[in-house]
Amino acid sequence: MIQLDKRLARMAELMTPGGVGIDVGADHGYLSVSLVASGRAKRMLATDIRPGPLSSAERCIRENGLEDQIGTMLTDGLTGVPLEGATDILIGGMGGLLIASILEARLAELKGFNLVLQPMTQAGPLRQWLCENGFAIVCERCAVAAGKAYSIINARYDGVKRKCTPLFALVGKAADDDSEDAAVYLQKLLAREQKMLDGLMSAVHPDEDKIAESRQLVEQLRALTEQRAEG
Ligand SMILES: C[S@@+](CC[C@H](N)C(=O)[O-])C[C@H]1O[C@@H](n2cnc3c(N)ncnc32)[C@H](O)[C@@H]1O
Repeated sequence: MIQLDKRLARMAELMTPGGVGIDVGADHGYLSVSLVASGRAKRMLATDIRPGPLSSAERCIRENGLEDQIGTMLTDGLTGVPLEGATDILIGGMGGLLIASILEARLAELKGFNLVLQPMTQAGPLRQWLCENGFAIVCERCAVAAGKAYSIINARYDGVKRKCTPLFALVGKAADDDSEDAAVYLQKLLAREQKMLDGLMSAVHPDEDKIAESRQLVEQLRALTEQRAEG
């Protein structure tokens, strides 16, 4: 049985039980194989844009004897991917803007899908895109793996276009996750924003508007982390 690291394990936990998933950018194929081998998913389609990673996924699927339940496809994002009958789309290990562009290409067909998205960077722009394009962020789960902290976003289309505040773009629903990993995620965000504020303040020609925005964000984040520590 494949042992997933925490990042992939959190993604797997957000898959619809008994569902049919599309694992975009599957690379090694661990997520698809683990989901099917554990019985969490009924079937998976593992895709990748590059033949090398797709071959790795195919090898992993074969070694685990799951060829009947996991298909593979060489394609860019969701291009040509059959969506009928699928319940979940899982995209992990990519930048947030790339994830958004992959979803955008099939936007009109995403109603009803359970989306499990794990941006490596640009989580803010991804949350913003989701808010502006009619997706509700249902929940987020944080994971610390290999010294890095990630938030895994679980979203569903409901057609409601939401305003995304700077704080929501930064944190999303990660603050609702009461795990220790979420505390680490928030602390890392706070440290990053504080560094940005320090940089703005030490500029030769300081931009007072930007400084005010950044300071507000740092204060909001600090309040969030303190609330958690007290609670
Ligand atoms: C860092 S790996 C992540 C693998 C796995 N999803 C994970 O989270 O561990 C990113 C994979 O996405 C693939 N990829 C990058 N852009 C893609 C795209 N537009 N469509 C499909 N796959 C893509 C890469 O080839 C690579 O195998």
